[in-house]
Amino acid sequence: MHYGADYNPEQWPEEIWPDDVARMREAGVTMVSLGIFSWARIQPREGEFDFAWLDRVIDLLHEGGIAVDLATATASPPPWASAAYPEILPRDEDGSIFWPGSRQQFAPSSPVYRRLAGELVAAIAGRYAEHPAVVMWHVNNEYGCHLNFDYSDAARDAFRRWLRDRYAGIDELNAAWGTNFWSQRYSSFDEILPPRKAPYSRNPGQMLDFRRFTSDMLLECYLMEKELIRAAGATQPITTNFMGAFKPADYARWAEHVDLVSDDCYPDPNDPESFRAAAFQRDLVRSLKPDVPWLLMEQATNALNWRPTNAPKAPGQMAALSAQAIGRGADGILFFQWRQSRAGAEKFHSAMLPHAGTDTRTWREVVALGDALAALPELPAGARDARVAIVFDWENWWAVEASDHPQNGLDYLAVVQRWYRALHRRHVQVDLVPAARVGEGYDLVVAPLLYLLREADAAALTGFVEAGGHLVAGPFTDIVDEYDRFRDGGFLTQLRGILGVDVEDFGALVAPDAPAASPGERTAPFSGPFGAAVGTLLAEELRVTDASVEAFFTGGRLTGRPALTVRDTGRGSARYLATVPDEAGVQAVVDHVLAAAGVEPVVPELPADVEAMRRGDVLTVVNHGPERVSATVAGTDLVTGEAIDGIRLDPYDWRILRLPAAAATEPASGPEGAPGA
Ligand code: GAL
Repeated sequence: MHYGADYNPEQWPEEIWPDDVARMREAGVTMVSLGIFSWARIQPREGEFDFAWLDRVIDLLHEGGIAVDLATATASPPPWASAAYPEILPRDEDGSIFWPGSRQQFAPSSPVYRRLAGELVAAIAGRYAEHPAVVMWHVNNEYGCHLNFDYSDAARDAFRRWLRDRYAGIDELNAAWGTNFWSQRYSSFDEILPPRKAPYSRNPGQMLDFRRFTSDMLLECYLMEKELIRAAGATQPITTNFMGAFKPADYARWAEHVDLVSDDCYPDPNDPESFRAAAFQRDLVRSLKPDVPWLLMEQATNALNWRPTNAPKAPGQMAALSAQAIGRGADGILFFQWRQSRAGAEKFHSAMLPHAGTDTRTWREVVALGDALAALPELPAGARDARVAIVFDWENWWAVEASDHPQNGLDYLAVVQRWYRALHRRHVQVDLVPAARVGEGYDLVVAPLLYLLREADAAALTGFVEAGGHLVAGPFTDIVDEYDRFRDGGFLTQLRGILGVDVEDFGALVAPDAPAASPGERTAPFSGPFGAAVGTLLAEELRVTDASVEAFFTGGRLTGRPALTVRDTGRGSARYLATVPDEAGVQAVVDHVLAAAGVEPVVPELPADVEAMRRGDVLTVVNHGPERVSATVAGTDLVTGEAIDGIRLDPYDWRILRLPAAAATEPASGPEGAPGA
């Protein structure tokens, strides 16, 4: 178990450093991420490196037994870089420049930025590749976080290069982008621009490729640095910190290039449901690289600085969220940052060592968590515990939220997370995977809004159902190919066989958040074996060809038409849902399909605010709710070593248990005095 934080010693006089190391030891810190924003300090001028201070810090840490996750420092170029080479500055779609004075002001595709970054990385890696303190490499920082897109001339040139690689020729690009529409036909790659500000809707194929390109440019930067680190002879694992479901970077493609996934996660303490969003994020990053434990690279000990209101974490909440991460596959808990800054934009951001000192709740909780983590034995790696998967696909995310659709209010992540929450409330373990991976042993697969469906993915979903799996798909699914073009033959062209339905029309409903005065239907009530439910956003007109209708619309223009269909395949089943149910509606459908697929909770009958998650033979239970609960789980407490037979959890209390060999868990009870509530 790693435990630690970003460490920014350059913000402090050198006399403080020994105190830092002493305090780190007191807190049980095992590793720090060093030098993430140190470019200006390491390289004060082009061609001039100052490593003396970094040598001293690393040696000091090493003497103190603290390992180093060494950063490549390329995330924030120093002022001299853009003063000498203004072409490295990125631009927005209007052509406005992102100037220095903050961070991340670099155009990822700029050859000059890449040369400068490469020189820095080569120098750092060359110097520290064999330093015994360095156990991991931290490439850049949160690629794309602030600057989602760059439309600069560097991006223009790189976009043309990227398109030349992707398409056999300009005719193929024209066909893919459908440029016969609106006289957009290109006669040469040299005419193509990034989708800069334009009078009206831009070409959807171009927009989709620009998103792919953007993710690929950031990935190219990562790969360049990784190769330089390896070329210097470094053998330690290399990572770059992800941000969960971060739309601009297709982490499903990135994951194969990191030795381990590391992730930054900042749930909002003001949101009582944010622990569920955090659970989603942890399950997503675990699913990206399921065989290798991931690392929680950044979280906050307490309040942040960057939300409109930066509430403190409740007592115990920081440890509860840490236990959640471990339970969902993390092998380390790190924070931003070690010592609270005394200047700069983040001076109010909490840290392991608060500005208010060690006589603080934050410090006491930091020390207590360090003690607990130090007691944990090695936990199982690569356990596959989820019987349920939700399909999550970045390219589909980009395409389904493009403009000019029947319903322009679709929020892919929000809908996916609604399904996730319904499963989470039932204590069902879930993976989030691309459709290509649904054959990895799941009983139930949910594929909401899978608008862009590649042939291989359609084949994987079909194969899953044919092999006895239970699928729930729709609405607005199987509409376009990977270029965002309709396929011949209508909609659901690839899945209609397995689903036994066709979609005639999408039936957009007024979005729930539209102004109150907006005319039109807002909801589509429907009813089935799970009772009455409410659909939103879309109420599709289905033609049932080879399925039974499980639920019908009960109001509005589609009254009496199918809302949920099922095609039984013997062992498995394929359901199609014609609407986006609201929170309660998704819960009703989830309960129904969990029963149909025979999926059991990790621990039965826990209250919805209590989480239970498996990691092989390790069970983690966390109480995020406001009441004391008890649960009749048995095993060995991996922090205290005690044999456990039944637990009581106060708010934010948690246990990590090794289950007895039989791995049986008895039904638990809810809030005290209300068994099963
Ligand atoms: C992250 C970033 C850190 C720090 C932190 C504050 O996005 O990687 O450097 O700024 O947010 O919450």
